[in-house]
Amino acid sequence: MKFDHSVKIAPSILSADFANFGAEIQAVEAQGADWIHVDVMDGHFVPNITFGPATCAAIRPHIKTVMDVHLMIAPVDPYIEAFAAAGADIITAHVEAGPHIHRTLQAIRATGAKAGLALNPGTPAEVAAPLLDMVDLICVMTVNPGFGGQKFIHSCVQKVTELREMIGDREVHIEIDGGVDQSTAPLVVAAGADVLVAGSAVFRGGSVSNPATYGDNIRAIRNAV
Ligand code: DX5
Ligand code: ZN
Repeated sequence: MKFDHSVKIAPSILSADFANFGAEIQAVEAQGADWIHVDVMDGHFVPNITFGPATCAAIRPHIKTVMDVHLMIAPVDPYIEAFAAAGADIITAHVEAGPHIHRTLQAIRATGAKAGLALNPGTPAEVAAPLLDMVDLICVMTVNPGFGGQKFIHSCVQKVTELREMIGDREVHIEIDGGVDQSTAPLVVAAGADVLVAGSAVFRGGSVSNPATYGDNIRAIRNAV
C-alpha cells in the first residue's frame, strides 16, 4: 500500500446488506469507493455486535481496493493475528480499548498490516502524541462508536486540526468515522482529514440492483470537498 495524500472515500459495510456483502462491496467499488471500511463490534467495547475474522476472510476476495478493518473490541491483542490472516490491509484499534496501546500497535505492524489508532469523541488529540511514529492512520470518531446513522459531533473537528499539526510531515492518514455526508465532509477535509468513512451517506437509497445511487452518493461527497 503506497501512501496517498488525496481524499479517499471508504464506505462502511455496516450500512450494507449483511446477507450480500460480496455483491455490495463489488457494487460500491465499481461506483468509485477508494477503500472498504469494515466495522467489527463485540457487544462489550461498544453496545452492538457485527462479525469477526471469519466474515472478514470471506469478504476479502471481493475487495480489490483496501480492506480497512476498524476493531471496536476489547481486548484487541488476542485477535490481531486472526484479522491479519483474514487479509486486513489496515487494522485500527481504539486507545480506549485497553491499557497497552503501544504494544497493540507494535503487534499490528508485526503482522505486516498498517496500524491505525482510533480516538473516541471524548478522547483528546494529545493521547496520540507519543504514538505518532507507530501509526499509519489515526481514526477520529465523530460519533460514539456502535451504530451507523448517528449525528456528526462538530466539536471533533478541532481535534482533526490539532492532529494534522502534530503529524507534521509523517505519512499518517487522518480518517473520519461517523456522520460523514456532503455537509460535514468539507469541514473535516479542510481541517486535514484524507479518509472519509461513510455508511449511511453512501448506501442510502441504493442496492446491488440499483448501484448507480451508490455512485451518486459517493460523487456527492467527493464533489463537496
Ligand atoms: C460507527 C462505525 C462507523 C459507521 C459510520 O461505530 O465505526 O464506521 O458505520 O456510519 P455512518 O456513516 O452512517 O455514521
Ligand atoms: Zn468504523
